Amino acid sequence: MLFLTGLHDARQLAGFDPSSWTGRRRRIAIDLIDDIDRLGDGKTRAALFERIVDARGAFKRTYRDRFAAFDALIIDCWQRSGLPTQNVRVLDAAVSDGSTSLALIVAVSALSAGRFAFTATDLDGRYLRICDEAAPQRRVIVSEAGQVVQIIVPPFLFTHRESRHLFPLNRLLRPAAQRFADRLLKRWRNRDPGIQTREILLFAPEFRQMLESDPCIEFRSWDILEPWQADKATCVRAMNVLNPGYFDAHQMRRAVCNLLDVVADGGILAVGSNDDAGTDVDGIVCRRRGARLEVLASTGRGFRAPDAIAPLIVQASPSA
Ligand SMILES: C[S@@+](CC[C@H](N)C(=O)[O-])C[C@H]1O[C@@H](n2cnc3c(N)ncnc32)[C@H](O)[C@@H]1O
Repeated sequence: MLFLTGLHDARQLAGFDPSSWTGRRRRIAIDLIDDIDRLGDGKTRAALFERIVDARGAFKRTYRDRFAAFDALIIDCWQRSGLPTQNVRVLDAAVSDGSTSLALIVAVSALSAGRFAFTATDLDGRYLRICDEAAPQRRVIVSEAGQVVQIIVPPFLFTHRESRHLFPLNRLLRPAAQRFADRLLKRWRNRDPGIQTREILLFAPEFRQMLESDPCIEFRSWDILEPWQADKATCVRAMNVLNPGYFDAHQMRRAVCNLLDVVADGGILAVGSNDDAGTDVDGIVCRRRGARLEVLASTGRGFRAPDAIAPLIVQASPSA
């Protein structure tokens, strides 16, 4: 096949099969998210997130009920450690669209009889769509930090981590698309009045509803490579983000230390990774002891970046 087009118009959504050979490879314009949600099309939403790659090369892939057994283990460790269960704060890092936060919110709400605060974080909770008002179909989607995530030049859609071999015409056209994006972003930065922008919220509809209706639940943008600047939490969870493919060894250590710093002394840090919904998690649930961590439980093959966490691990105390 010489080229691959993207899904760039809401009219293409009807009849789109994300599991066919081309359907699996076609990228979907992020600004179609509201149309996808209006159709209530969970499969296409999941496919959209499987294919969003940020400027650093990290995927936003996420599913509901992705690791229910691991969440149950977190709650079990929490209860067995004798930690407070009321007036607690939970921080869920790198939540993507918040689909996996839903189950944890329900579990913590039950554990705390509704007396909890929940902070979901991610590098990006929203993107910006930028176009020339005279030609809105040709557009660029950028992250909150202004990094290009998608370049949409119908019928083509360019993103990061594209196959360089399967579709030679896409490869040929990419430099021109990049020049188009550079010109558009320059005009946007210069506040050109001909430039139109629209914010795109990425949250799953149910999670968005919770954010809007429940003052105990909030979202904050946070790059886990930077120190956390707000309150500490009784429990911190970071799932499917500490993957060796996303960070080098130095960054991984930094991210682990930043996550540890968010946990109140005696609190829980849970980190893990898995594949599709319901598959085994390679992860650990730990308890903070001073500047170190005590492993309370390990699942699958354990944490996938063991070298980053090994220097922090202490042996379990006899009383634990
Ligand atoms: C594969 S998704 C995992 C989403 C969800 N936690 C789950 O398990 O389904 C990885 C997420 O990590 C986020 N991410 C990547 N680098 C990050 C960073 N430096 N700081 C915070 N989040 C980051 C991405 O934006 C993306 O939403």
